[in-house]
Amino acid sequence: MIGLPNWLTVALNGTLEAVSRSALRDRAQAISDAYRAGGTSQIIRSDDDALAYAVVRMPATYAALRASLEQAMHIIPAYAPRSILDLGAGPGTATWAAADAWPSVERSTLIDSNARLLALARGLGASGDAPGVETSVMQGDAVTMLAKAPMADVVIASYALTEIAPAALDDILMRLWTLADRLLVIVEPGTVNGFKRILAYRDMLLAQGAQIIAPCSHEGRCPLSDTARWCHFNARLPRSRDHQITKRASVPYEDEKFSCLVAGKGFTGLSTGRRILATPHVSKGGVSFTLCAPERTEERVITRSDKAAYKAAKRYDWGDVIGL
Ligand SMILES: C[S@@+](CC[C@H](N)C(=O)[O-])C[C@H]1O[C@@H](n2cnc3c(N)ncnc32)[C@H](O)[C@@H]1O
Repeated sequence: MIGLPNWLTVALNGTLEAVSRSALRDRAQAISDAYRAGGTSQIIRSDDDALAYAVVRMPATYAALRASLEQAMHIIPAYAPRSILDLGAGPGTATWAAADAWPSVERSTLIDSNARLLALARGLGASGDAPGVETSVMQGDAVTMLAKAPMADVVIASYALTEIAPAALDDILMRLWTLADRLLVIVEPGTVNGFKRILAYRDMLLAQGAQIIAPCSHEGRCPLSDTARWCHFNARLPRSRDHQITKRASVPYEDEKFSCLVAGKGFTGLSTGRRILATPHVSKGGVSFTLCAPERTEERVITRSDKAAYKAAKRYDWGDVIGL
């Protein structure tokens, strides 16, 4: 399970102290309904709306981000970035996830058109035990703000490109890539459409000479591109009591499906392997799983008779990279 770091839970709980839970639940419901109907975070207009977003969505987007960064860190374990550019930052989710993943992070620039979410991000970042990341905030539309944004070691767009008008997307992607000194991280909902957008970004970035750090274990054609399947992963997160009440949920955890892409510049000695594309199936005969490879997926079975390999394979999980 991937939960919010303790400092962020404490900071969020602090902001919730004076807030009516029934009002929060109503706002959360309105936000969820708007998202489900294909709407955007334009529905977030007040401080309570921003808090409702932070309670019901931030734990899930944080878990997806943290899992995406983990995939990248597995491939480039020695990399230690110092600066972040967080596009569509909302309450600063990507900044907090990056600070947790890489204690080397010293500063982050948060861009968002939504003043309420940015105010919440600032408040969370100023809370007592927040990581010592120096944050600067740029409020305005992505196109305008990216024209004057500083470069950063890592540029992140988390659940943000999905809200950008399609006509502006190519231009924004190229600006993000130009502003990324080493890594561009994109996280999208783990839906068919989220995956289609990730595929399009992958093609565009490969044409710019990008290295694909994650999730793909190669830079060849995506084996799922012309199939009914889509590349996505699952991040399981714990639900706090407020999260559970606000979502009227019965179980204390949630599964967030996400698709991601981490593109890099100038990395050498990348570790090799193949990524597992779905939950491995364990049966009496052995462990079977699907691996990502150029052009087509590879089906593998590790039988019980191969004792050492079988013992290791029983621990394999969706999203793991295993040796060839
Ligand atoms: C779904 S939220 C994601 C927030 C955060 N990155 C996360 O992962 O939790 C999308 C964010 O993108 C911002 N956004 C959408 N369109 C934008 C645009 N054209 N320019 C700047 N920000 C935008 C919204 O205000 C919102 O904060």
